Amino acid sequence: MAEGLRLVLFGPPGAGKGTQTRLLSGHLKAQAISTGDIFRSNLEQKTPLGLRASEYMNQGILVPDEVTIDIVLDKVMSVHSDEGFILDGFPRNPFQAGALEQALVLRSRPLDLVIFIDVPEEELVKRLGGRLVCRNCQAPYTLAAAGQTETPAGERGKEKCGQCGGELYQRADDTPIAVTKRIEVYHDQTLPVLDFYQVRGLLAKVDGADTVQNVYNRVLKEIQRVSKTKDRE
Ligand code: AP5
Ligand code: MG
Ligand code: ZN
Repeated sequence: MAEGLRLVLFGPPGAGKGTQTRLLSGHLKAQAISTGDIFRSNLEQKTPLGLRASEYMNQGILVPDEVTIDIVLDKVMSVHSDEGFILDGFPRNPFQAGALEQALVLRSRPLDLVIFIDVPEEELVKRLGGRLVCRNCQAPYTLAAAGQTETPAGERGKEKCGQCGGELYQRADDTPIAVTKRIEVYHDQTLPVLDFYQVRGLLAKVDGADTVQNVYNRVLKEIQRVSKTKDRE
């Protein structure tokens, strides 16, 4: 049986990583691994990990590498090679990128592709100010009042998740101050990850300032390109 695809979805806060990862994981039958979702669901369950991570997340800064890397690598390594995975929100600095590469090389399972979803800053700020997420499954939605109709949103005041019926809420780090900080951290610490993958020939950039469907089609095109190469190997 063919090996599953190993992907990273990369981009600034609000680029649509979570939205696209959900669409792709159903289509590719690949496991979605989202660090932000892992931390938030731990926080919902009030685990020590969730409580510790939230101290950093609420300020818009990165959770320390010694907390994050082991959790992600455990998940990545537990994925069966037939299945593949999509990383959303990891790696977030060159050190994390190096740790991931080392772990994957040891198993002879290198990444197939890193997709950079590029969205201008003013659009990011607008999106994050109008986002709701599901308390139960972490699916992102667009608040109807924000004037967006791309992604489903329930009636204001009693929004429910379209996938699991869970309650929708506004993330603590979607306040204007935390959003500004997250974008700053992205520029200072996360952007250098692009160079890391560029020199390895793994990077594909897609324009993310378009409808969810159009962005998805662009992402699929990039994936089909590497899938064909992979099938020939
Ligand atoms: P994380 O949860 O990963 O947040 P983020 O990177 O800031 O990204 P977001 O989840 O805000 O945006 P997204 O790109 O997923 O966009 P979405 O699809 O939701 O991380 C949160 C925190 O956790 C970090 O600050 C850090 O503290 C910690 N953390 C996480 N990973 C870490 C790591 N590796 N190391 C250390 N710390 C880590 O879309 C956004 C909105 O736009 C939604 O409302 C959506 O409906 C809408 N939308 C999506 N696509 C479109 C479109 N094409 N057009 C219009 N609207 C759209
Ligand atoms: Mg996300
Ligand atoms: Zn849900």
